[in-house]
Amino acid sequence: MTDEPRIALRRAADLQPAPEPGDDPALVAMIRAEIASSGPMTFARFMDLALYQPDHGYYATGSRGPGREADFLTAPESHPIFGWTVARQLDEVWERLGRPATFTVREYGAGSGALAAGIVEGLTRSGSALRGGIRYRIAERAAAREDQVRARLAAVGADDILEPDDGRPIIGAVIANEVIDALPVHRVVGARDGTVRELLVAIGADGGFESIEGDPSTRDLAARLEAEGVELAAGQPAEVCLEVDGWVAGAAAGLERGLVLLVDYGHPAPALYAPDRGSLLRAYTRHRVHDDPFRNVGRQDLTAHVDLTAVERAATAAGLAHLGTTTQAEFLTGLGAGDLLVSLQSDRTTELGSYLEARSALFRLLDPAATGRFAVMLFGRELAGPPLRGLEFRMARA
Ligand SMILES: C[S@@+](CC[C@H](N)C(=O)[O-])C[C@H]1O[C@@H](n2cnc3c(N)ncnc32)[C@H](O)[C@@H]1O
Repeated sequence: MTDEPRIALRRAADLQPAPEPGDDPALVAMIRAEIASSGPMTFARFMDLALYQPDHGYYATGSRGPGREADFLTAPESHPIFGWTVARQLDEVWERLGRPATFTVREYGAGSGALAAGIVEGLTRSGSALRGGIRYRIAERAAAREDQVRARLAAVGADDILEPDDGRPIIGAVIANEVIDALPVHRVVGARDGTVRELLVAIGADGGFESIEGDPSTRDLAARLEAEGVELAAGQPAEVCLEVDGWVAGAAAGLERGLVLLVDYGHPAPALYAPDRGSLLRAYTRHRVHDDPFRNVGRQDLTAHVDLTAVERAATAAGLAHLGTTTQAEFLTGLGAGDLLVSLQSDRTTELGSYLEARSALFRLLDPAATGRFAVMLFGRELAGPPLRGLEFRMARA
């Protein structure tokens, strides 16, 4: 099994890989200046600037990210059948909440709006009555994305469902696909005496960025690992995402009643920090993956596998009920993604090419050696009842 999380269409071994974009010089200068004046910075600070510095960060500019022509593919970008299937889950939650007149979806990290559009299409295709009551809010760190989401929704005749997010708790669903993996992480390494050291970002002798070992910038790093019963082996590198607690707490606080649906790649803490695992920080650019965060600064994605234990602990601490965690393959299967493909095939208006495209995308989404093994975490607030359909396949198998 590979530890490359995202879908990269081209591999480094290709004969003519796209050239790497190189650094954003203004961003490099900014980071250098901060290190020169304040000393080595945490990797979390470096990653935050590289991805979200308002004028130069990889995501902040809104010009790159997931997409066929960009740097990597996410499930919703690979085919709308992902969104069609998520729509089925939302429909079931809407029914379970007693069909409220307004059912609001708040999507974190909505990116280009592919999932939003897929959900609306799914509701339309199935003739769900939820299509009339759905409202959509986006919580995107990259403000530039809002226009893209609006355009994507307009293309499926639904830009009118988009409403400004005043942050007030909603009745409906909070969703996030591949967002937690984009939160900045600290990098640590196990020390011989059983403690942890932190890997900080400094300027090397050649003027480039380099990692150096130092004292931990915060006790929270050791505290997180201790709370999870993890002891890193001497020399074992690992990433710790401290931001996840605040992020999950904020997402949970924004839900009055309904579902929190989080899809991402990751592992429970014992597996994430197993001694043979190594660093799970990855960089993506032009559908190539590598592990050097100091190349293409501001022009490549940086991502780390998610600590599912930390997410679950934060969600339950925020008062959510953990309904279950399953894989993307089982989630999509439980919701009948296969039936959606069959109805696409039996629809006389479907062209062969678009059917084949949907079929191969669904195979990739289900393939346990590809994104089928991604984790799907479902949490609820005031959402009583039997297991949701997205968890049914797992329950039946258990
Ligand atoms: C890997 S992309 C995924 C985009 C989209 N969800 C998809 O699946 O195609 C991560 C997205 O999360 C957004 N993001 C990162 N941190 C965030 C935060 N704290 N709140 C909201 N969005 C965030 C980024 O701006 C980016 O658009």
